[in-house]
Parts: sequence; structure tokens; C-alpha cells
Amino acid sequence: MNVCVIGTGYVGLVSGVCFSELGHQVYCVDHDSLKIDQLNEGISPIYEPGLQELMNKNRQAKRLIFTGDLQKAMADADAILIAVGTPANRDGSANLTFIKEVAIEIGQHIRPGMTIITKSTVPVGTNKKIKKWITLSCGHQQFSVASCPEFLREGSAIKDTLHMERAVFGVEDDLAESVLRALHEPIQTNIIVTTIETAETAKYAANAFLATKISFINEVANVCEGVGADVQSLAEIIGLDPRIGPSFLQAGVGYGGSCFPKDTQAFIRVAEDAGYDLQIVPAVEKVNAQQRQRLVQKLKTVYPGHYLREKRIAILGLAFKPNTDDMRASPAFEVVDFLQNEGATVIAYDPIASAQARRLMPELELALNWQEAVDQADALFVLTDWEEFKAIDLGELKRKMKKPVVIDGRNIFNPNHMKQMGFYYDSVGREI
Ligand code: UGA
Repeated sequence: MNVCVIGTGYVGLVSGVCFSELGHQVYCVDHDSLKIDQLNEGISPIYEPGLQELMNKNRQAKRLIFTGDLQKAMADADAILIAVGTPANRDGSANLTFIKEVAIEIGQHIRPGMTIITKSTVPVGTNKKIKKWITLSCGHQQFSVASCPEFLREGSAIKDTLHMERAVFGVEDDLAESVLRALHEPIQTNIIVTTIETAETAKYAANAFLATKISFINEVANVCEGVGADVQSLAEIIGLDPRIGPSFLQAGVGYGGSCFPKDTQAFIRVAEDAGYDLQIVPAVEKVNAQQRQRLVQKLKTVYPGHYLREKRIAILGLAFKPNTDDMRASPAFEVVDFLQNEGATVIAYDPIASAQARRLMPELELALNWQEAVDQADALFVLTDWEEFKAIDLGELKRKMKKPVVIDGRNIFNPNHMKQMGFYYDSVGREI
């Protein structure tokens, strides 16, 4: 089928590439002409394992075309996917400016029988607004709208899309359902057909629940520290109960990224608008914020008083998680700020996110490799669980550091091994 994807951010680009890989003819549209030029030169604007290769394979097969011309891209489209950003407003609610602009533009080129599918994460009721905005723009209602929320994770976006666990079709009529079925036809997955409102809410509920799991295990980890229990072993024990499940029970410095912080906030506003005050989700956010503070406070035990003045502190990991260069809402921002405010000299290393850090944290000193970062350091914080860090030669690490102090915000090292090697080692929810 013919597909037009509007927006070449994370969701739009990955969707466009994957749907072309499945055999559909896909046009990806963006207002940003520099980005379109870059994509037409075969360069992906985002770091995502496997994306650039798959993108170029489908460009060469002429199944994937990047353009700034929406009219041309929509001309023969059966499905038009909206995948533009919904950044947070000051009050945490989702900003729908880009969605509205796109809806009005779609209305200028729409033809009867087309289906408009929203991939962006939007508050409940947005698809109805999209219908209204398009109708006002084109003057008729001979089209369908649908909500098809995205559940991909950064770092494994291609696999998550081509082998999705479920596809959710929030539809208003049979046309939208049949278009969505045809679009997903080659993918073997669980399909859930539901109302638009349920699909919209499900996306927020899924992210809020995952964030809840993380904050819950982080609270349990904090208790473990007080009673001498081990949170990793505990997570294995509770995770073997299928009602709980083993994933998203890794305690640490807390969640970041472009989704959980923004979507939990937006969900709180959605609930408020619906007349309900959420109790759990605000607590989840509070625990998440507190978790960064607890980690940096751990250094106080080692360096009390004005403990960080003239100390050299190394940070390993700036991305909000491994396999991405994305630093949005990364715990690194708070940790670096705190350390610098306490007078420490901070030097950081990240395998991929350094270029982003140069832009976002121009004051931060960056090292070219982990060895340079830890050289003569008085302490080291691990903030991202990159495989590269797990494989660090601990003997070399100890020799390079001025003081062998490691605060591990991702629990990547073995506490007993670290102790045997003569490190002062602290992590999250495990015995020192
Ligand atoms: C998240 C969801 O997992 C996706 O299903 C969803 O589609 C996406 O948001 C979105 O809304 O677009 P993502 O933000 O890419 O995906 O990253 P996750 O893998 O979910 O990790 C989020 C954060 O939680 C990271 O900072 C990670 O380090 C942290 N985390 C994750 C933990 O601290 N502990 C865990 O056990 C798991």
C-alpha cells in the first residue's frame, strides 16, 4: 500500500523505514529541509542501531522516499501517519501545536477515502480534534482517523517495530481498521482493535506503569540498603512470579529519556482534565527525582564536609540508557549539576553521546575514552549501563584513579569483586 509518514523524528523515521522494509511504498515528509537533504544523502539524523543500513537498503529499492513536499507525498496515499513531536508545555501537558499545523495542512491535500493515523503520543481526545481540524481545512468528512500508538524503545527500535508484541488499532470505522490491518499485514503480532479513546489512554497507561515498576524497585532498593538485603536477588525472586514479571526491575539512578518523564506528566494532566487526581503517578515521579539525589549523597560518606571542593570526579555514561546518543532527561544532567555546584571538577565519557553532550552541556569536560575520564579521579560515577563499561579492566581502573572510589548508579559491577580488589564501592540496593 502507499503510505505517507509526516515527521522524521524517532517514531516517524523508524516507522517509515520499517513499513518500507515490509514492502509498502513510503514517503517520509518533513518541513526541515536540512534534515531531508541529510536523509537523501543516506545519513540518519538519529543514532539507532541498524536504522541507517535498513533506511539505505529501502531507499535504493525506491520504496522509501524523503521529501518536503506533502502534496506529492500524500497524492496516492492510503494511509497518512502523523508522527510529529508533542513536547511538554510548562504545566506538563502535551503541546499540540505541531499536530494542529499538520492536520490543517493534511486538510489542504486530502482526498476522499484516506485514513489519517496518529502515531504521536497524544492526550485523550486529540484524534477527535484532528478530525475537526482536517474537516475545517478541507470542508468534508470523507476520511477516517485512527490512533495507533507506538511502543518502540530507543536502542531496539527496529526489532520492536518489525517484531512488535502488539498492534493497537483505535478506530472509528471499518475503513480505518482495514487500512491498519493492511499496513501491518506482514507482521505476525497480537492485534487489538478498540476505540480511539482506549488506544490513546493505553499508551499513557503503559508508560506510566513501566515508570511505576522502576520507581517501585528503586524504593525497594532503598529499603534493601537499610536492612542489608540485595535488590538484584530480590528482583529475581519477585520477577519469577508471572504476575509480576522479571523486566523493568533494575534498580538504579532512575529513569530518563524523551518518554517516561514527559508522558507521566502529561498523563497527570489528562487525568486532571478528566476530573481525577492521580495518586500513584506523581509519587513515581517524586521517587525518580529523589533517586538521583540519593546517589550523589553516597559520596558524602567518603568525602564529608565541604567534601567535593577540588575533587576530580569522573562520570561514565551520559545517555539516558545504552545504545542511544539521546540525553533527553538523562540522570546525568542532575548528577553533573550537583557535583559542579559542590565545587568538583567533572570529566565525563560516553561511547556515543559525547557529541550531544558537547551541544547540551558545553561547560562539561569530555574525555575521549574511559581511561582518560578516570585518570587521577577521586571518585567515579557510573550512570549508563553500556556494555563497554561492564567490560572495564578493573585492575587498570584502580591503577588510573587517584582514589579507588566507585559509585555505581546502574549496578554493573559485582560488589564482592570490587571489595576484594580494594575499591570503595557503593551501588543501589546492594550491600557495600
Ligand atoms: C519507553 C518505553 O519502554 C517504550 O515502550 C515506549 O514506546 C517509549 O518509551 C515511548 O513512549 O516512545 P524508551 O524511553 O526508549 O522507551 O526507554 P526504556 O528502555 O523504556 O528506558 C527508559 C528509562 O528507564 C531509561 O533511563 C532506563 O535506564 C530506565 N530503566 C529501565 C531503569 O532504570 N530500570 C529498568 O529496569 C528499566
